[in-house]
This record gives sequence, structure tokens and C-alpha cells, in this order.
Amino acid sequence: MKSGDLGAYNIEDLRQMARKRLPRGIFEYIDRGAEDEIALRNNREVYRSLKIKNRVLIDVSKRSTATEIFGHKITMPYGISPTASAGLVCEGGEVGLAKAAARMGVICTAATSSLTPMEEIYNAGEGNIWFQLYMWTDKDLTKAFVERIKAAGFKTMLITVDGSVGANREHNYRNGFSMPLKYSPRLIAQVLANPGWCARVLAPQFLKRGAFRKVNYPTELANKLTQAEIEHEYTKPDSQNWDDIKRIRDIWPGNLVVKGLQSSEDTVIAADNGLQGVVLSNHGGRYLDTAPAPLQLIPEVRAAVGDRLKIIIDSGARRGSDIVKAMALGADMVMSGRPTLFGSAVAGEAGSYRALEIFQTEMDRVMAQTGLNSVDEITSQILWNPPTWAHGESEFKGEQFTD
Ligand code: FNR
Ligand code: LAC
Repeated sequence: MKSGDLGAYNIEDLRQMARKRLPRGIFEYIDRGAEDEIALRNNREVYRSLKIKNRVLIDVSKRSTATEIFGHKITMPYGISPTASAGLVCEGGEVGLAKAAARMGVICTAATSSLTPMEEIYNAGEGNIWFQLYMWTDKDLTKAFVERIKAAGFKTMLITVDGSVGANREHNYRNGFSMPLKYSPRLIAQVLANPGWCARVLAPQFLKRGAFRKVNYPTELANKLTQAEIEHEYTKPDSQNWDDIKRIRDIWPGNLVVKGLQSSEDTVIAADNGLQGVVLSNHGGRYLDTAPAPLQLIPEVRAAVGDRLKIIIDSGARRGSDIVKAMALGADMVMSGRPTLFGSAVAGEAGSYRALEIFQTEMDRVMAQTGLNSVDEITSQILWNPPTWAHGESEFKGEQFTD
């Protein structure tokens, strides 16, 4: 399949097109953040505030954005973050994301809460696929779930640890959207006002797969508990702690990564527990509002752990130059969830691929403009007048944007 440019020349174009194609509640669920959305906006502002210098008269004709992660070759140091809702924007959306990632040669992460069976997503990913785990309160269920992930073939698992209490997203209270999807009067009105979404997503979903369901949840839970109880099982395991991670370390032979950290203290503990990586993340501004932008954390975290584990970041990357900036500050890989979801809403697999293509061509162009031939050559040398935090020192200088 050839994607064409779909009339989208950047990620913001895909976002605007997705806004038109989705019921408002679903678009806002994807697009917006928690409380005052300070972290959400700051994630972008910090990327934008960093400046990189061009370099001229260097032969960059043989440059490449390719690199590797955990010994696996990837076309660029970028991956798709796990998202619970790809199936809401496009029928079987998670499969389309995985296929797009496989076609581009980048990582895609299948989410515990996805609406398609993990085995189907794994097969679509052709080896480029990681699994994201939410730990259940019931430790035996978690253990059995990890065995299923292993049996499906996944080699890298990423445990999300920043959702131990539910998020405070006030827009969801107002627009009537909730996960799991409940057809509130406001949401029904939005759905009816969007016949395109009904025809493209809702009808095929019902015909092919039935109601939207978190099909990967352990059957014990899915069969025995009400939906509210299931949610409580996984969204509020507020007793979870490093012992839970250690138990999983003992039974998981593959690469193990924890996602949702924001400090060098926690990253050092992750390294001490034999983990292979961390994802520095504020969940795209969806949980702790006023959390720092992960981009700003890279230098201090790298200074604390050295090369003991991979430092991956997500939250806010929207341009190829953002990937270059994160790598210049010491990251090993950058991820994001929203750009490919927007692409998926616009044109399924082809739209997700378009998002990846935008990142790759932009990154390639910026590498050429900054005189770089390989990902290994990306260092902080390319940054113009780097701020204090870029040297691994934190110094808060007040709000960086105005409302
Ligand atoms: C997410 N994210 C997420 N993370 C996770 O570990 N498990 C999940 O099920 C979800 N679900 C989810 C749904 C939606 C709609 C979004 C937008 C995000 C967070 C995701 O993995 C990632 O941390 C953020 O998307 C990063 O922010 P940006 O770069 O996409 O803005
Ligand atoms: C979210 C959860 C599912 O961010 O991680 O919506």
C-alpha cells in the first residue's frame, strides 16, 4: 500500500484532520491532558525553546537515521508509545499501527488496554513490537498475564508505573467521554453528529468484533467482575511498588523497561533492579499536571545512571528535529502516542505510516542541515546556547509560556 501524503505535511495537519473525523469526546480524550494542562503545553514549549545550529560544507550525502535498540535495527530512533484507544479511531486500529511501524522499521508498543487481541497485534508487527503492561492488583493474574505475553512472542516488555491512581481529566467529565466507553447522552449526541465515524469505525467494529472491549484483560477479570471493578483492578493499584517489578523481573526473560519515571532517583533504582531501560514520561501531560518535560530530565538522569540502561523519552515530540534534540541531550530513543493515533484516525494504517514518514523525513533533513551522517554523531555540540538543565543541572526559571 502506498500512503501518499494525504494532504498532511506535518503532524499538526494530521491532528487537525483527526479533529474533524472524530466525535469530540474521543478527540479530546486523545488530545488533551490533566487539570490545567500545564505539563501538556510545557512538553511542546520545551522542545520549541531549544535551538540547534546548522553546519555547512560537510559531505552528508551518505547520512542515515538508522540505529538500533536492544540489538534490533530500526530506521530511526523513534517508536510508537502504547495507547489504549487506537481501536476507537479506526476499526482494528492497533493492527494498523503495528503494520505501519513494521513497514517503516520502527518499534510499536501494544497496550494492555488495546481493543485488539495482543497476539493479532504481535503478528502484524513483524518483530518490531513491544508489549506495555499495567500490573493488576492480583499478583497471580499479573503472573499469568506475563506468561501469555511471553507465549505470544514479545521480547521486550514495558511496565507503565505512573497510573497508580486515576487521572483527573476535567474535559472528560464535561464532554461525557469515559474509558471504558460508556454511551452517555452527551457522547451519543456527539456520535450521532458524526455519521462518518459511525460508518468508518463503529459499524465495522460491531460487525467484525462486537462491542468495544478491552479484549486482553484476563478472562478471570473480564468474566467475573463488573466493568467498574475491572477498572479499579488496574487503574488504582496504588499499593504497587518495586517488589512487584522484582517479581516480574524474575519471570520475564526479555528486556524489561519501566515507563512513567521523572527522576534520576527512580532511574537509578530501575538500573539497580536489573532493568534494561526506562521511559522518562509524563504520560503526555495526562496524569501529574505541572510535571517537568521529559526532555529536560535527560541530562540529569544520564549523569546519574551513565550507560547502565537505555533512556527513552516520550511526551511532546511532534517534529523530526525533536528526535534530534532528545538524542543530542543523551536519549537513546524517542516515542510518542498521539501523532500516529491522529494518522490512524485520518487513514488507518496509511495515516499512521504518514505520521512516521513525516518524522523520518524531517529527522533526515535536520541531520543534513546540522552536518550529521549518523545517529551516533548527534551530540550536544549541535545545541546553540544550551540552557542550564541541558548540562544536567536543574534550575527552575519560571513559566516558559503564557496562557
Ligand atoms: C496514552 N498513554 C498510555 N500509556 C500507557 O502506558 N498505557 C496506555 O494504555 C496509554 N493509553 C493512552 C491513550 C491515549 C489516547 C494517549 C494519548 C496516551 C500514554 C502514551 O503511552 C504516551 O506516554 C503519551 O502519548 C506521550 O505523549 P505524546 O508524545 O503522545 O503527546
Ligand atoms: C490514558 C491511560 C489509558 O492515558 O493510560 O488514557
